[in-house]
Amino acid sequence: MRTRPLKVALLGCGVVGSEVARIMTTHAADLAARIGAPVELAGVAVRRPDKVREGIDPALVTTDATALVKRGDIDVVVEVIGGIEPARTLITTAFAHGASVVSANKALIAQDGAALHAAADEHGRDLYYEAAVAGAIPLIRPLRESLAGDKVNRVLGIVNGTTNFILDAMDTTGAGYQEALDEATALGYAEADPTADVEGFDAAAKAAILAGIAFHTRVRLDDVHREGMTEVTAADFASARRMGCTIKLLAICERAADGASVTARVHPAMIPLSHPLANVREAYNAVFVESEAAGQLMFYGPGAGGSPTASAVLGDLVAVCRNRLGGATGPGESAYAALPVSPMGEVVTRYHISLDVADKPGVLAQVATVFAEHGVSIDTVRQSGKDGEASLVVVTHRASDAALGGTVEALRKLDTVRGVASIMRVEGE
Ligand SMILES: NC(=O)c1ccc[n+]([C@@H]2O[C@H](COP(=O)([O-])OP(=O)(O)OC[C@H]3O[C@@H](n4cnc5c(N)ncnc54)[C@H](OP(=O)(O)O)[C@@H]3O)[C@@H](O)[C@H]2O)c1
Repeated sequence: MRTRPLKVALLGCGVVGSEVARIMTTHAADLAARIGAPVELAGVAVRRPDKVREGIDPALVTTDATALVKRGDIDVVVEVIGGIEPARTLITTAFAHGASVVSANKALIAQDGAALHAAADEHGRDLYYEAAVAGAIPLIRPLRESLAGDKVNRVLGIVNGTTNFILDAMDTTGAGYQEALDEATALGYAEADPTADVEGFDAAAKAAILAGIAFHTRVRLDDVHREGMTEVTAADFASARRMGCTIKLLAICERAADGASVTARVHPAMIPLSHPLANVREAYNAVFVESEAAGQLMFYGPGAGGSPTASAVLGDLVAVCRNRLGGATGPGESAYAALPVSPMGEVVTRYHISLDVADKPGVLAQVATVFAEHGVSIDTVRQSGKDGEASLVVVTHRASDAALGGTVEALRKLDTVRGVASIMRVEGE
């Protein structure tokens, strides 16, 4: 074993960074044996230097992250600050000064992954970010390495623990959205401002990263169609249950049937209770991967939290240190397929549409005609009503999002349709 240690700069010592530092210290001997050299924490950059940080030598703490990454003797920079700046500049500066980088920063990788990979390549360094998608769950490495010889056709995942906690609470207790959100906030599963989670921004960043890696193509954050889950109601759950389904906020990355394009989207969807993702409870994450040769694979576990996320960061740290000792770099960006990302209108799936209609003869025929005119074939219809008002629940066969959109627009124009109560996609069948 090499006795000269590999030097690690830790940028950020919050929820994740403090756990990274703790595990580096408590498992130092094991990490050294696995890497083939000891790893030394050479500096810790934070915003508030006076905060007491258990287990961290105060002499290592600095507010000057730039000076730390420019030192020139740092082998690996671990970026767990989050956000776009200063993280982006610190990472590119680290490459320019000879360090490899491990990051947990989904927002930055989703937005600037291509440029950061190019900077890593330019300097012959590694950029690893297993922790950026689904916390502790090994996902980036299985997609990048274990499945490198296969052809992934679909990635379907629950990649946001907060929204899964809320939807699970609505499903199991019958609570409405606000009540379930309040519970999630009280228990620490939702942040004071939950927008990034409940509006699907966090999941969309992860979908962009997953789609890019799975399909060897560049998928930008703007390419991901995003709908939040704040409009999901207790009535939607009741409808889902009648169909033998539940509702999850899903990140769905798909290769088109002809293989010539891909799509990436995040939205709430009904999935059958028999689907493995339906049983992912509370704040857990899971990702279902369908590939040509391997078939169906499921990755499951804690998608956030200091210690689980630090586990993924440490796994990357070991890999990057091994590469460094071997004078090599691991796999970089793989975007050779350069497939176009199709717009949402081209996505094909099934739909559950709930309509408030007048309770009089001929309404069902009128509604059915509108579906037929737009080429959307109906699978089942359920009608109930009294006192002149009725509700119609239509479940369709597979149709394009554009065709469904046209259908709904035409339905809204019918005198007999009082309103479109909800539209939910049906996935996982
Ligand atoms: N928390 C999770 O469960 C989780 C899961 C997966 C991925 N991630 C990702 O991990 C990253 C870190 O998340 P976190 O939850 O650990 O965040 P956090 O608890 O807010 O910690 C952020 C750390 O960065 C430091 N910091 C902020 N601005 C800085 C600056 N300009 N210069 C130097 N240090 C600065 C903060 O310093 P002070 O301590 O002085 O405030 C703090 O130590 C994010 O990219 C996040 O998306 C987190």
